[in-house]
Amino acid sequence: MDRRKFLHHSCICGLAGISASELLQGCAAVKYSAGTIKGSDLLIPLEDFVDRTAKVVQYRKYVIAGNDMLKFPICVYRFNENDFHALWTKCTHQGNELQVFGEKLECPAHGSEFDTRGLVQEGPADKPLRSFPVRIDGEYLKISLEK
Ligand code: FES
Repeated sequence: MDRRKFLHHSCICGLAGISASELLQGCAAVKYSAGTIKGSDLLIPLEDFVDRTAKVVQYRKYVIAGNDMLKFPICVYRFNENDFHALWTKCTHQGNELQVFGEKLECPAHGSEFDTRGLVQEGPADKPLRSFPVRIDGEYLKISLEK
């Protein structure tokens, strides 16, 4: 998935009720990571979680990882330096692509919502999102794509 397509998918904020500045701020905070597939893993640099735009280095709460080989992006939440959670952005109701809004993932099709661990917060979906095992390997986060 190219960057333009990716941004289109991940940054379509519901325009109703959101001002232009809020929209831009929200989109600016989204970090896209073009992952590399190696074997059965998707590798993303841990550096992509680092936000150096402020005077003090901060860490992003999540990064959206994509690759042309994947049908959907993977949203990776960072809870601390050793705790990451990778979620398939495919809705478990009827398979639409989810949109990420900070600490929740929303389905534009019928309104299902999921939390940062992929648990259903609002139906009609009734199953959690697919999660991927992750492990840190040097400067990379390895996301296992095996079933
Ligand atoms: S496909 Fe996501 S709520 Fe229906």
